[in-house]
Amino acid sequence: MESQHDEKKFQSAYEKAAENGIDPRCIPQKLTQDVPEGDLITYPNYSETEISIWMTLYIRQMELLKGRVCDEYLEGVKLMNFSSSQIPSLRELSNVLSSTSNWTVARVPGLIHEENFFSFLRRRVFPSTDYIREPHEIDYTPAPDLFHDIFGHMPLLTNSNFANFYQLFGEAALNAREEQHIFLEKLHWFTVEFGLIKKNNQNRIYGAGIISSKNEVEHSLSDKVEVIPFDIERIIHQEYEVWHLQPLLFVIESFEQLETSFKEWVSKENLI
Ligand SMILES: [Fe+2]
Repeated sequence: MESQHDEKKFQSAYEKAAENGIDPRCIPQKLTQDVPEGDLITYPNYSETEISIWMTLYIRQMELLKGRVCDEYLEGVKLMNFSSSQIPSLRELSNVLSSTSNWTVARVPGLIHEENFFSFLRRRVFPSTDYIREPHEIDYTPAPDLFHDIFGHMPLLTNSNFANFYQLFGEAALNAREEQHIFLEKLHWFTVEFGLIKKNNQNRIYGAGIISSKNEVEHSLSDKVEVIPFDIERIIHQEYEVWHLQPLLFVIESFEQLETSFKEWVSKENLI
């Protein structure tokens, strides 16, 4: 009975969707053994096709992100030394993160169970896949792949405020009571995955779910989206759709604001 209760406690939106016959790659797996981290991660022997998928995605997204993505993300891209002709090495990215924001990288086999995921974050370790989507999935894949994990998530982890916020997120999620889990899931969605940030009175993108998606990049700053000032109390009660373009997004003023307001909220909610 107790373990069933725990299972439900960590059930994500994806898991709930999976119960209704969604792509099995979207069902989070529980890690049963240690996964390689940092210098222990070996570089896969990528095929020409896989390298060309990276190249296509990288060139297209970098072009689309011009003038749309936040400066902090672009600074991270520079530090990570991405190139269109080579799929980045998790081991090298781990070294970059280690010297900029004291994070490292672990290689995981796919979407992992939330409890595993948050345990990594709490230790300032980013769990990443190292396989790339299939050619027919260039425009959209429902499951995580290295383009989402590396290109979408990692650059911003070089920003110290964001890096601190994300570690605290992991800690808070592990301490959360059942009813607080949905709040954190929504917060993750509207910040880490689909967050916008204000720059000189214009909205810029910082969420990885937008950054790694052609359609979301084009859609997120269009007039089809309602943009609301960042407000945690509002976010935790906001519904969202996993499988459609986002109709509503929240904009932060700065990454300092994200870190500070989240710290205040977790302390008020007794999550740290
Ligand atoms: Fe993600």
